[in-house]
Amino acid sequence: MKHIVIAVALTLGTLAAWAQSPIVIKFSHVVANDTPKGQGALKFKEIAEARTNGRVKVEVYPNSQLYKDKEELEALQLGAVQMLAPSLSKFGPLGAKEFEVFDLPFIFDNVAELHRVMDGPTGAMLMKNLEPKGIVGLAFWDNGFKVMTANKPLRRVDDFKGIKLRIQSSKVLEAQMRSIGANPQVMAFSEVYQAMQTGVVDGSENTTSNIYTQRHHEVQKFLTVSDHGYIGYAVVTNKKFWDGLPADIRGILEGAMRDATKFTNDHAQADNEAALKKIADSGKLQVIQLTPQERAEWKKAMTKTHRQMEDRIGKELIQTIYKETGYKPE
Ligand code: LMR
Repeated sequence: MKHIVIAVALTLGTLAAWAQSPIVIKFSHVVANDTPKGQGALKFKEIAEARTNGRVKVEVYPNSQLYKDKEELEALQLGAVQMLAPSLSKFGPLGAKEFEVFDLPFIFDNVAELHRVMDGPTGAMLMKNLEPKGIVGLAFWDNGFKVMTANKPLRRVDDFKGIKLRIQSSKVLEAQMRSIGANPQVMAFSEVYQAMQTGVVDGSENTTSNIYTQRHHEVQKFLTVSDHGYIGYAVVTNKKFWDGLPADIRGILEGAMRDATKFTNDHAQADNEAALKKIADSGKLQVIQLTPQERAEWKKAMTKTHRQMEDRIGKELIQTIYKETGYKPE
């Protein structure tokens, strides 16, 4: 009898401890805290932990501390981490190559056009297509429009001939770089600084917030403001984990994600503008503004990729986005 009492007490004790131990969400990403995504992840942590009264603990691991680009997607599928926000250019290796539609050069003129696509039926369809892969898409987060950096000035399409430019793992970005005669090199984000420093690559494309926080401007000589393409993110979670959460917790986390998304997207553009100013003020590289004619020359060369990529991402999807944004192919 005494043994039974002890056993019951122990079981109750274990249950109580279990009931109190928080649900841990490991949120891994590859950029610095002081970027749109870094700030978004911290905002989600703050809101989620406060609203669940400590029943959920969000551990944010920035700067590829836990995993690099490719590994983090594998870790999510295996359940080693619960949340990520990979750039939309990095979903190809998962088999979700339609996400690369966001990489098509010059397809978006501004953030409003972009959000018409993301926040409408096309965005919802893209997220839904992740579910058979064991992934739930929770939100789209902005970073911003891209600039080019290199160790030589890039103004004319001819300037790109033969130079090695780091890209993310996107076939559209590969085609974009080839369309201007450059030599694209796929590389994890965390390796770019060293590759620039040692001359493994001559340059890259990115947002100014990423360039500044990774100190790429210290190992590049020129930056061209081109806004030729966009970097944004899909915040994703492991479907099994998400579906297994208590319904009330999941509801609170959905609300926290909505509010963290608004915060991120409200601040992203200003973050990138501030980073460009800091880069220019550092005096470490020269900032080049394209004339409208020069930009038109880039656009003419790069937009050839829209046609070339129809087989990969689907002609219909590209046409739908043209309709949603008002883009007119030449
Ligand atoms: C890159 O790999 O260049 C970036 O997209 C990294 C990021 O997550 O912004």
